Amino acid sequence: MATNLQAPKGVAEYVPPNSAALLKIRDALLEASQLAGYQYVELPVFEDTQLYVRGVGEATDVVSKEMYTFEDRGGRSLTLRPEGTAGLVRSVIEHRLDRGALPVKLSYTGPFFRAERPQKGRYRQFYQFGVEAIGSQDPMLDAEVISVALAGIEAIGLKNCRLLVNTLGDAESREVYREKLVEYLADFDLDEATQERIKLNPLRVLDDKRPEMQEILKEAPKLSESLTPSAKERFDQVLASLDALSIAYEVDDRLVRGLDYYVHTTFEFVHDGLGAQAAVGGGGRYDGLLATLGGQDLGGIGFGMGIDRLILATEAENLGLADESPVDVFVLPLGEEAVIPGMKLAQDLRSHEVATGFAFDQRSVKSAMKSADRSGARFAVIIGEQELANSEVTVKDLRDGTQQNHSLDTLATWLKGEIQ
Ligand code: HAM
Repeated sequence: MATNLQAPKGVAEYVPPNSAALLKIRDALLEASQLAGYQYVELPVFEDTQLYVRGVGEATDVVSKEMYTFEDRGGRSLTLRPEGTAGLVRSVIEHRLDRGALPVKLSYTGPFFRAERPQKGRYRQFYQFGVEAIGSQDPMLDAEVISVALAGIEAIGLKNCRLLVNTLGDAESREVYREKLVEYLADFDLDEATQERIKLNPLRVLDDKRPEMQEILKEAPKLSESLTPSAKERFDQVLASLDALSIAYEVDDRLVRGLDYYVHTTFEFVHDGLGAQAAVGGGGRYDGLLATLGGQDLGGIGFGMGIDRLILATEAENLGLADESPVDVFVLPLGEEAVIPGMKLAQDLRSHEVATGFAFDQRSVKSAMKSADRSGARFAVIIGEQELANSEVTVKDLRDGTQQNHSLDTLATWLKGEIQ
């Protein structure tokens, strides 16, 4: 006997009725970005492995432990995208999108892949919606990017998200901090992997969630104390811009984020109803990334919102985004001669933007009525011999069982009015 096949471990998969939540959330974020002039880019799902090694950083967990890397038939090393920023920046450079008006403001969405240990809210295939704005250093752009994410969160209807912000400063600030941190860590007897991380990028040690490391890190020097005056001033300008836009935030000087390209502003949106995987989205500035990937020396900032976690957040807040009734109207043809006119009627209603189902398979009136009930539709439209002769149909309100006849001419307009 053949064994049943299952989706790979840790993969997020969305089927009805919950799949509707994914579309609604994605569309809310997309619309919020479009209202601020961000244009959509469809990016490849796999890229040259070197893009992530160079762009995201060898010392990050994402690159060192979590990539799905494979060789294609031509012997090239490819990687399923673990995040979107590196790929988008590659695309901007390749298509010379940074040669026109700046900043260039773009969005993307789709599946991303990280070989993490699966748990609630952490999957090996997950979904992000992201934006990137490239080619401006204006602190107000940092505030705009954050405000776009927030507008999306609000359009989804979420109430309990908090915004955390921090600054990683400029290269000089981080160099000073790096030295202080290395000096501090030298006093502890650390394992080999951690020593290796310190060599590659000591800031990555701050991501270590092991309790013994968290204990050591409690007393570690803070990056906020190593900021150069100009980096500090820039951060103050970003905070002032957020204040001016009435955006509430908490400064969290332990927010370093897990990717190496960040400088200056970093931020995260957390939802308190989600347990351990509380970050529903995050982002920040990446001013050296274009140059690192062979482009102009332009700065950029963006965010990636985790759609899977936003879905969990809407469930925690009982927002009910699942689609329990895919159609508003269900057409029931009575008898063979009514099938074609019935489907034509369904087509006509659909063209008037009335979501309409149809009773297939020529069943009895009783079983067809059962399908109508099951569909979750508000109205059953019954079309039979007599109805055809009179150019009218019987409309049954499935909520209260009342029935009335309707002329075909005015049916679509009437139904549209009723279901709104
Ligand atoms: P990130 O923080 O790695 O940033 O991911 C962004 C969001 O994706 C997270 O806050 C989380 O909601 C979601 N996410 C990440 N990994 C998983 C997972 N394994 N399962 C479920 N959800 C997940 C980035 O990816 C950056 N590219 C964001 C960015 C854009 N920075 C600048 N521009």
